[in-house]
Amino acid sequence: MPVIVVVGVYWGDEGKGRVVDLLARECQVVARYAGGANTGHTVINDLGEFRLKLIPAGIFNPDCLCLIGNGVVVTPQVLLDEIAELTARGVAVTNLRISDRAHVVLPYHLIIEQQEELRRGPFAIGTTLNGIGPAYGDKTSRDGIRMAELIQPAVLRERLANVLARKNELITRVYGLPPLDFDPLYEQYRAYGERLAPYVTDTGALIRQAARAGKTVLLEGAQATLLDLDLGTYPYVTSSHPTAAGACLGVGLPPSALTHVVGVVKAYTTRVGSGPLPTELVGAVGERLRELGHEYGTRTGRPRRCGWLDAVLGRYGCEVNGVTSIALTRLDILDTFPEVKIAVAYELDGRRIETLPADLEALARCQPVYETLPGWLTPTSAARTFEELPPNARRYVERVGELLGAPVSLVGVGPSRLQAVTNGGLPWEGGHAVQ
Ligand code: IMP
Repeated sequence: MPVIVVVGVYWGDEGKGRVVDLLARECQVVARYAGGANTGHTVINDLGEFRLKLIPAGIFNPDCLCLIGNGVVVTPQVLLDEIAELTARGVAVTNLRISDRAHVVLPYHLIIEQQEELRRGPFAIGTTLNGIGPAYGDKTSRDGIRMAELIQPAVLRERLANVLARKNELITRVYGLPPLDFDPLYEQYRAYGERLAPYVTDTGALIRQAARAGKTVLLEGAQATLLDLDLGTYPYVTSSHPTAAGACLGVGLPPSALTHVVGVVKAYTTRVGSGPLPTELVGAVGERLRELGHEYGTRTGRPRRCGWLDAVLGRYGCEVNGVTSIALTRLDILDTFPEVKIAVAYELDGRRIETLPADLEALARCQPVYETLPGWLTPTSAARTFEELPPNARRYVERVGELLGAPVSLVGVGPSRLQAVTNGGLPWEGGHAVQ
């Protein structure tokens, strides 16, 4: 009865969508547990290319129950657009359910976020401006509006009137902007509630029942470990808990229910936006990684900063998530490098350290200590088993597993679903790890 979490080990963009899509075909329940419309999973399959923001990737498997968990914040218009697009392209959404405890993103969240980011000046977080942070802030300060309230017009009216009055004070008195009108806002959200009501239910009860019945359950991570509010590179983090512990809270399963944690690791490290990146390569090698890997933000087109694989961060990510197996993506991008490096430690002010400092200024001063491995200079994209990988590629994969402290059970060698190396099993089936 596997209950599997798929989590990104670094800052996101590790290729989770691809791994989730691959695994979701085998699952009976797939649930999103954190984040909101600030993320995007690109899924390419027989029906074309889809970019999912809120709906779990299991939606392409007609036998799979797809849940948006209580830990997610829902932007109703984004969700309705996604439902409409999937339906128009022949994907049924009849198996979609939304937690009645999931919080709703409202227009004032977007205004507050924009204004606060502006006022942060040089300390701006560089958020996606989807209102995610303020929506989670309202959840914490007990001012949130949940799906359970959204679908009850009378309750929504009372609650929204109370919260909006206070938000409008902030909007007018602090930001000097015009207030939001209650009537049109209420009407718009009442209508959203009416349209979404058929999907809203107690998803926690459903998932606990599925886990008890021995069904295969996949908890689909969004964002990644180093963006976790508690465990990430604060303050350059998101406002939820993308880590495995957050998965339990975000769907209403107890920690003891988890049986496998799949950590998604890219074969090299990338980061978008500001913040320290110890293994960043600013010269020709970094440029080559970016070009070969098409490392540009999917929505903004911003170039991602690229560097060699950072095993210090990777080990931290695997430890805090309790990763039981690693899905190593994009190995093929390294095919043409005569040598490849892995940061095994940092040097900080003359000392060797192997852990992630909380102080970001200290992290920025960390110099990577590299281990150099020979490249393989052979295409890997046709390999389907570990034995078919060139010996040096295999050595690299094994070394990543050793350094990160978990076996590598899946290796991505190209963009299509089929271009994955395994030893004949899925990560929870065992018997296929290389370590
Ligand atoms: P927010 O989640 O919009 O509040 O943004 C906070 C930080 O998380 C910013 O640095 C974003 O770029 C980052 N972030 C949020 N979602 C994702 C994601 O799906 N992939 C990568 N970075 C993300």
